[in-house]
Amino acid sequence: MIKGKPFVKWAGGKRQIIDKLKQYVPDEFNTYYEPFVGGGALLFELSPKNAVINDYNKELMNVYECIKDAKKFESMCKELNQHETMHSEKYYYEVRNLDRDKKKFNKLVDYKRAARTIYLNKACFNGLYRVNSKNEFNVPFGKKNKVNTYEGQNLGIICGFLNFNNIKLLSVDFEEAVKDAKKGDFIYFDPPYDSDTTTFNSYTEDGFGKEEQKRLAEVFKDLDKRGCYVMLSNHNTALVNELYKDYNIHVIEAKRNINANGKKRGKVVEVIITNFENKREFE
Ligand SMILES: C[S@@+](CC[C@H](N)C(=O)[O-])C[C@H]1O[C@@H](n2cnc3c(N)ncnc32)[C@H](O)[C@@H]1O
Repeated sequence: MIKGKPFVKWAGGKRQIIDKLKQYVPDEFNTYYEPFVGGGALLFELSPKNAVINDYNKELMNVYECIKDAKKFESMCKELNQHETMHSEKYYYEVRNLDRDKKKFNKLVDYKRAARTIYLNKACFNGLYRVNSKNEFNVPFGKKNKVNTYEGQNLGIICGFLNFNNIKLLSVDFEEAVKDAKKGDFIYFDPPYDSDTTTFNSYTEDGFGKEEQKRLAEVFKDLDKRGCYVMLSNHNTALVNELYKDYNIHVIEAKRNINANGKKRGKVVEVIITNFENKREFE
């Protein structure tokens, strides 16, 4: 089976630690839940038959919706072709600034909004998704001469995956997204990171502070009681260690922090928490 990969670069994307995450995935489970799906690195890696995926970010989930719907997918691809052809700094700012007029923007057909989200992600500086307090996309131009919005077959592969499997798409709060999870289901939580130094996190206009981390830990415990397999990744902070002290906390070295000359040990920054014992070694 050819697997897709994230169609957008997303803050907190899990591509770098995907092999480590996979080591903790249960051998068997029923429905896969990913309530903070973002770019969906683990979703595509596992490509499950039954899944419920969710993200608070409406523009992002609209892209998943449009890739899933054959007609919208075709129209979205035509838009992407146009963006690739027209691409320039001036054009980028024209497309970016469409959300400055909310009345007009809200009337924009969904597949055009989806193509805009992909195009901006590929053409902006560093592939970020960032909006200001008025929910306006505000990342500057990335200075690329050309953009590749399809990445070869990737969008087509994702279209096939979303269509030939039973994949439910939601855009609600994480707690609501897992309300139907049952014994034997597997839930992977990849929330916005906690931090020991700052309290500010801005993936969406709502933010995700300490109170949200605490609420998430309550949901984790509830799913544990229901008999679900639950896995969560986060930074290795004091709060995270306190909230999940009754579970398995695996400390992971993030590649980017390992010093190349080997003299300095890499900083250990991430944790993978599970309510079950499972670790497989891969080659
Ligand atoms: C760390 S990112 C997920 C990264 C993803 N696993 C990947 O590989 O790209 C966290 C995501 O949580 C979403 N989010 C923030 N608050 C949320 C909430 N209350 N409910 C659901 N999703 C939320 C953000 O929009 C963001 O996409």
